[in-house]
Amino acid sequence: MQYVNLSNDIYFLGYNDRRTHLFENIWPIPNGISYNSYLIVDDKIALIDTVERSFFDEYLDNIEEIIGDRKIDYLVINHMEPDHSGALKSIMQRYPEVTLVGNKKTFAFVESFYKEPENVHLVHDGSVLELGKHRLQFQTIPMVHWPETMVTYEETNKILFSGDAFGSYGTLDGGVFDDEINLDFYEVEVMRYFTNIVGKYCPHTQRAIKKLAPLDIKMIAATHGPVWRSDLDWVLTRYNKWSSYDLDKGVVIVYGSMYGNTQKMAEVIARRLAERGIKNIRVYDASKTHASYIINDIFKYKGFIVGSPAYNNSMFPNVEILLSTIEHMAPKDHYLGIFGNFLWNGGGVKNLKVFAEKIKWELVYDPIEEKGAMKKDNKEQLCKLADAMADKLMAE
Ligand code: FEO
Repeated sequence: MQYVNLSNDIYFLGYNDRRTHLFENIWPIPNGISYNSYLIVDDKIALIDTVERSFFDEYLDNIEEIIGDRKIDYLVINHMEPDHSGALKSIMQRYPEVTLVGNKKTFAFVESFYKEPENVHLVHDGSVLELGKHRLQFQTIPMVHWPETMVTYEETNKILFSGDAFGSYGTLDGGVFDDEINLDFYEVEVMRYFTNIVGKYCPHTQRAIKKLAPLDIKMIAATHGPVWRSDLDWVLTRYNKWSSYDLDKGVVIVYGSMYGNTQKMAEVIARRLAERGIKNIRVYDASKTHASYIINDIFKYKGFIVGSPAYNNSMFPNVEILLSTIEHMAPKDHYLGIFGNFLWNGGGVKNLKVFAEKIKWELVYDPIEEKGAMKKDNKEQLCKLADAMADKLMAE
């Protein structure tokens, strides 16, 4: 990608990755992702974060086109995950006098990943760094996404270089700024980036939002996705809603099913919920839909109903993987329903109950377990489960 000016002397350097299938080798990115770095050219030159290392050649070409023979004085490291620090070692080799700017945890991570840094400038909450006309201020926002994570606020243009916060999956297909793009494209991808990557750290995100609130921010420049300059509320409002578990009235139903019997049980529950007036119902087959998308909807809707057959005396493996991912993310304040079936020893519903105990969501109805295919009595029980869920949601 070509570099783009955020102001006369502040540059966006972003690179589109349409080759990687799985971000962090876990999360599907069918629409790709961008890695964004920023360059401030002043009496001193500062680079803010780097990019994934496979883009280094193009990245360096762009830097040299902008600054020519001048050297980079500072490399500000907001976040050490290698999608942003991947080119750090190469930058240090190309500009051996560069001073790394970070907090105590940043430098510990630099040493762990690469080598002990030689030229460092240690910053804390509220520290400032003068570049000439531009002054940078630093604020730590631990666990959004890693313990060392911080943001950099540029005081002249009031730009917040926010790291992963307010970032998105999805490449930048020409448009870089929010007002250059139909944001419908990013509606799901911004949320998936949040729920997949930062979703575990909602309380930390809430603390970060409150901590940054006093700053007069005119532009948010994240390390992935669009630069927000026209409608900052678009992304700020969403982050606040998601990270505070402000859930909508709706139900996610997930099942594992080898031969369709557990699926039939899910369909009965879904239909009854619809009859009871629940309009947001999403039914997923855990073997087909990646957890990335299911987790996303779990962060939208308050109800979650999960079904599993018995499989090798346990629950269905793909359901197990999903529930393990949910336990990692630990979203709060959901209503839960569980159901399943077995033929001889069981193990599906038994282990769903273990999940229920661990996740501590409110179980709205006693677990339902059928032997083999669904019978009339069982259908009635499933409708009662749906009724109990609908009652809870309608009472909100
Ligand atoms: Fe985009 Fe936590 O890295």
